[in-house]
Amino acid sequence: MPDSARALIAPSARSDVPPFVVMHVMAAAARIEARGGRVIHMEVGQPANPAPSTAIAAAKRALDRGDIGYTEALGTPALRARIARHYGDAYGLTIPPDRIAVTTGSSAGFILAFLAMFEPGDRVAVASPGYPPYRHILTALGCEPVLIEVSEATRWEITGEALLAAHRRKPLQGVLVASPASPTGTMIKPEALADLVRMAEQAGIRFISDEIYHGLDYAFRAETAARFSDKAVVINSFSKYFCMTGWRIGWMVVPPALVRAVERLQQNLAISVPALSQIAAEAAFDGREEMEKVKQGYEVNRQILIEGLPKAGLDRFLPVDGAFYLYADVSRFCDDSFDFAKRMLEEAGVAATPGIDFDPVRGKEFIRFCYARSADDMREAVERIGGWLRR
Ligand SMILES: Cc1ncc(COP(=O)(O)O)c(C=O)c1O
Repeated sequence: MPDSARALIAPSARSDVPPFVVMHVMAAAARIEARGGRVIHMEVGQPANPAPSTAIAAAKRALDRGDIGYTEALGTPALRARIARHYGDAYGLTIPPDRIAVTTGSSAGFILAFLAMFEPGDRVAVASPGYPPYRHILTALGCEPVLIEVSEATRWEITGEALLAAHRRKPLQGVLVASPASPTGTMIKPEALADLVRMAEQAGIRFISDEIYHGLDYAFRAETAARFSDKAVVINSFSKYFCMTGWRIGWMVVPPALVRAVERLQQNLAISVPALSQIAAEAAFDGREEMEKVKQGYEVNRQILIEGLPKAGLDRFLPVDGAFYLYADVSRFCDDSFDFAKRMLEEAGVAATPGIDFDPVRGKEFIRFCYARSADDMREAVERIGGWLRR
């Protein structure tokens, strides 16, 4: 093909973001299942349970009425008010509804936040290991993700000192933290979060807090960055606690001065978030009792893994504070966790995600297990892994 023709179809350089390695694991698991094999799925970070029945019933009623149209760009007034009320109920905080922006999952929240807060070339710090789309979305938008390697010493979270050290090397314009985090499942203590927000803002570094796993905290209660600053952007979602991944709905708490910018971006990028999902999301808050039972199931699973994995031979993992992840060090068994995950899938029938997705450097030593499925699955997984490692 001539160069002139190739130039017409070549993808942009900014679209050249890495794929998710977990997709390879999922495809390999699907091949085993297609042959009739059984796989215990611990690779994908999503709840096995459906949305709250209150949400499903509200969506069915809305479908019968048939009034599914565009909504206000920042979300229906009813849902924004309900989310604002949630800050009173869950954290004892008053957040006015006009600071809430409803988004297409937290994924769209990141795009809106980065566009509203940063210029091309701006440098934004994220923890490594961390959720890969943070850095990939930043890259695609022309910003520079700055990886801060975190360690056991800080409960795998960015500290104010580490942030300022990176800022001194070359100025940062933003920092994004998550607690509970993926892939580690670790959490930042409320006092440490308060310090980090204060130190970032004093240094002129804008703060983004990914709170998607709030509600799924076992070690201690997760605190919202909204308590410490009204300049911080908080991003959250109905995907995890409310088991609504496929509904694609989340929200942001936006500093007052950014609300109009986020609204204009949303108007142009999406017009609005799917109306059906907004109706379901509002009703989801009435299904908390049901979701608390789901959470209790995760706590049982967590205990099965904390007790069972060391007996099976995997005894080095990070504190299992929250979310539904356990991040295990497998360097004793291999020097490439991708290969470990591949063999564990083929030989033990347990699918997990190699750490390389989350940490390009030390990820080769780690595996992420998601424990959002049944307790029986967790028990069987522990048994299978034990049998396999002893072989
Ligand atoms: C830490 C973290 N943030 C954000 C997301 C994106 O979720 P969603 O777009 O479904 O809200 C995920 C999904 O796995 C995640 O693990």
